Amino acid sequence: MPTRRAFLGQTAAVLGLAASGRQVSAASHTPVNLTAREASVQLAPGGYPATSIWGYEGRAPGPAIRVLQGERVRRRLVNDLPEPTSVHWHGIRIDNAMDGVSGLTQEAVAPGQAFDYDFVAPDAGTYWYHAHNRSWVQVARGLHGPLIVDEAEPPEVDREETLVLDDWLLDPETALIDDSFDQPMRMSHGGRIGNLITTNGRFDLSIPVARHIRMRLRLINASNARIFPLQLAGLQGWTVALDGMPLAQPEPLEDVLFLAPAQRADLIVDVTTEAGETAHLVRIGDDDQPASQVAFPVTGSTAQTPRAAPMALPPNPGAGIRSLADARPLRLVMSGGAMGRMDSAFLGGERLGFRELAARGRFWAFNDIAEMTQAPLADLSLGEPVRLEIVNETVFPHAMHLHGMHFREIREGSPVGPMRDTLLVAAQETRTVGFIADNPGDWLFHCHMLSHAESGMMTWVRVT
Ligand code: C2O
Ligand code: CU
Repeated sequence: MPTRRAFLGQTAAVLGLAASGRQVSAASHTPVNLTAREASVQLAPGGYPATSIWGYEGRAPGPAIRVLQGERVRRRLVNDLPEPTSVHWHGIRIDNAMDGVSGLTQEAVAPGQAFDYDFVAPDAGTYWYHAHNRSWVQVARGLHGPLIVDEAEPPEVDREETLVLDDWLLDPETALIDDSFDQPMRMSHGGRIGNLITTNGRFDLSIPVARHIRMRLRLINASNARIFPLQLAGLQGWTVALDGMPLAQPEPLEDVLFLAPAQRADLIVDVTTEAGETAHLVRIGDDDQPASQVAFPVTGSTAQTPRAAPMALPPNPGAGIRSLADARPLRLVMSGGAMGRMDSAFLGGERLGFRELAARGRFWAFNDIAEMTQAPLADLSLGEPVRLEIVNETVFPHAMHLHGMHFREIREGSPVGPMRDTLLVAAQETRTVGFIADNPGDWLFHCHMLSHAESGMMTWVRVT
């Protein structure tokens, strides 16, 4: 099996050949199409019918988009869906005009129309792209895919796998996607939790490996609402990056890794189990029982070379916030949901009771407002440090995602947490993050349990 570096070397050689050819210049100006369309795929086990999905290039996950750090991503979104759509490039410190948020940074692209995305990927790491118009419907139907930005000097591994974790809510008889997206019970509780769990679109993903190889696993949680509690079995591993951003030091993964919706984790793992056995990426099920998320049957053994723990990935350019001196204090109070104490909130400038809000499909509020507001949560000056307190008054966890900038968690007054773009805030918990408002534009800040976002948990900040 070639190492990653050898593989990159091969690619460069191939590109080198092509560059001396003639067809290249024309091709480099036309973006590659990314067509959002309906397709039929076999998701459920054999014996069940195929499922009609919406996917990029008719696949879910969509094709992996891969560039070298600092390169441009160019894609022409072609909308072959029956409704408008747009693409958000989750976690990229992107030019605001390319952020893909329908109604905020661009108009949704109508059926039959196209839109050219063209942006630089400044940070190496594991990112993803997904629909950002009616996303609680469109992402659940399958509109998402990996976006991988390679380091100039990637770590030495024998193999690399991108693993897109997802769940699907299917009709158990027909295997069709359950289309009760606005079902109040789910919206007001944990969100849309699926009944078929997949990795890369397969419920039984199995990747044969040899003993002693070292792999890089790029985990992406693309589900609407499921938090994946993950563990390793027959693998020794380290977390080397979260939400794309390298950790200062690899952290041994001995306990459970909670991967909330939209979060990513890069792991480096060594296959330790014997040939003939099977190693697993384990998911702790709702019943607390371990289940196989991905199986790694061990079919042979490479020579055992003693290996040191992996080194840290090369750091990305923006180091994030280092000090809170002069940081602007902001506060976001999340309320609502089933069993919550929200008895009213503002909608369309009017204070409405919980039942009236529920009748309008609003179950949650940010700072007492049950919708995306005209005015931003904050008007920030470019370069301003921010200290944002997130108060979860609800009895559900929420995966809070900031567009356009990564933050660090503040603990005991210092911004010491890893750089992240999505933070899981547990029920009744208060967490504080800090970031530098160093990317101009209008940036969403919302819960990535997507039906929560739709039913009240969405706001934005403006950086000028
Ligand atoms: Cu992953 Cu507002 O997005
Ligand atoms: Cu939420």
